[in-house]
Parts: sequence; structure tokens; C-alpha cells
Amino acid sequence: MKKIIGTFAAGAMLLALAGCAPAADTGSGDAAAAGPKAESDLVVGFAQVGAESGWRTANTKDIQSAFEEAGIELKFSDAQQKQENQIKAIRSYIQQQVDVIAFSPVVETGWDAVLNEAKDAGIPVVLTDRAVDSADDSLYVTFLGSDFVLEGEKAGDWVVEEYKDQTEPVEIIQLEGTTGAAPAIDRAEGFAEVIASDPKFEVVASQTGDFTRAGGKQVTEALLKSNPGVDLIYAHNDDMGLGAIEAIEAAGLVPGKDIKIVTVDAVKDGMTALADGKINFIVECSPLLGKQLIEVVKQINNGEATEKRIVTEETTFTQEQAIEALPTRAY
Ligand code: AHR
Repeated sequence: MKKIIGTFAAGAMLLALAGCAPAADTGSGDAAAAGPKAESDLVVGFAQVGAESGWRTANTKDIQSAFEEAGIELKFSDAQQKQENQIKAIRSYIQQQVDVIAFSPVVETGWDAVLNEAKDAGIPVVLTDRAVDSADDSLYVTFLGSDFVLEGEKAGDWVVEEYKDQTEPVEIIQLEGTTGAAPAIDRAEGFAEVIASDPKFEVVASQTGDFTRAGGKQVTEALLKSNPGVDLIYAHNDDMGLGAIEAIEAAGLVPGKDIKIVTVDAVKDGMTALADGKINFIVECSPLLGKQLIEVVKQINNGEATEKRIVTEETTFTQEQAIEALPTRAY
């Protein structure tokens, strides 16, 4: 289910675990000095982004049930999409001296100070779902999640193929995720790279809908007025695409026909809209990261090497594929 790329997380980590380097190198030296804990004694602090989308709800549920199944204590906090709340939660986990801190950073930048505090306290940090933009990759043990640039490229590939016979300009509205968040930056980048192959593709407007259904609806309502000739909406997640459907219908147009829609995620509501022909194509982004996170926590506890980057393997869905997949879709 998963493809592993990248380099080993650090000879430095192994050296630290072997007592050959200071604990601060990886934040895992204390565990090494004391030896592995019984798994039932481990405590992990998880700082979640929020509950902004169906994807996020599925991700939270998957993480909570993986910890319950593994019998490892999970301290969970919801940052309501605010970086300052996530920083507060991480500081509180440092104070409580948890064994591992995991978090999905709401935005890419601004983490070095708090991650250095975790490092100084000897607490290893695992990034799940989203990356941080830091020059110092010793601040975290591993980053476990999707390749968002690739997701944007897959969306772009479908668009290029769908309009291959059209010579007229193709007007595109982009509904961006949270400003500064890794999936918003990377999905825009991957998509832009692919559609740049043909000048007929024009992104006529691009605005954030903050990964929420309400945001997607509100932005689409406004942008449809200023861009009446739009052919396609590229939404960085299903929820914003679902909000766009509501706005398109309210404007008396038919989503999936008058205006085509491509989204990312493939949660049940998105897949249902795809099966109904209201969305035209979905790039999958899997929220099921719980089991992989448990594996990483166990590796850290046992002093084993961890891959620095663990990439989730994902697919794409057409209408026919959505109809086939829906009955067994887990989220
Ligand atoms: O980071 C993953 C993204 O965050 C999902 O695509 C989106 O639905 C969520 O809010």
C-alpha cells in the first residue's frame, strides 16, 4: 500500500540512539538511554489542523482508531486551522514530556522555534500529511504523507486530455486550499506545470476557499459573476468542489456539464458527486495514515532507523471508477 522513497532518517538518529551523539541531534536520545518503553506506557501527542473537510474528519478518525487498536495513549488537539493553536498544543506536549509529538502543519513556514524546543527536550517529532518548510531537517524524524505536487500534475493531465480537441481558450477557476499550506502550494504548482504545455489553458481566477465547503461556495459565487465564460473549476479538495457545485446550481447552470469540475481527495461525498456526474474527475489523497504513524512510533521507541520520507500511494477516479468504488469506500 505504500511506496517508500527517500533516504534513511539519519545515521545521526542511530548514532544518537547508540549514545554516540547528543540526544538533541534527533530528539530521540532520551529513549535510547532508557531503552524501549513498554508500548502500553508510550504517550503520543498529536496536533491536528482542524476539522475543515471530510478528508480531515476521516484522517482524525483513522489516527484515533489506530492508536486505540495499538493500545498506545494518544493526546489529541484540534487547532481549528490556526498555527498559533498548533504551536500552543506542541508546547503543551513538550511540557507534558510525551514520548513522541506528531502533527500536520496548518501552514509550511514558522515552525523552527517550537521544533527546536522539542529537539532540546529530546522529544522526536513526526510530520504527518503536510510538510514544513525548514532548512533544518533534523527537526523531525520523518514526514509521512502524500506527494501533493504529483496530485496537482494528475489533475492537470486529466484536463489536458479532456480538452485535447478544443482549439478555443479553456478558462479555468482555481479554488486554492489554505494560503501557505503545503497542499495548496504544491497542488497549484503541479497543475500549473502540466497545463503550461498549451497556451489555450488560462487560469482566469485563483482564490482560497480555505479547504472548506462554505469557502468553495462563497468564492465560486463571486468568481462566476466576474468570469461568466469559465469552462472548468480545479478545486484543491472535494469540499471546495462540493461548495462550487452549490454555487453553480444556484446560478442556474449544470455542474459537470456547463462547468466541469476536477478535485482532490476522493472522500465519500466527493465520490458520490463524481458518480452523479457533478464532478468530472478526482485525484485521490488518502487520509488513512494511522497505521503508518503507529509503525513509526514503534520504530522510534525501539531505536530503529526510520525512512526520512514515507509517501502514500494513491490513484485517480473517473465517473465509472467512482461508481465501482463507492460501495466499499471506507471514508
Ligand atoms: O492536507 C490534506 C488536505 O487537507 C486535504 O486534501 C484537504 O481536504 C484537507 O483539508
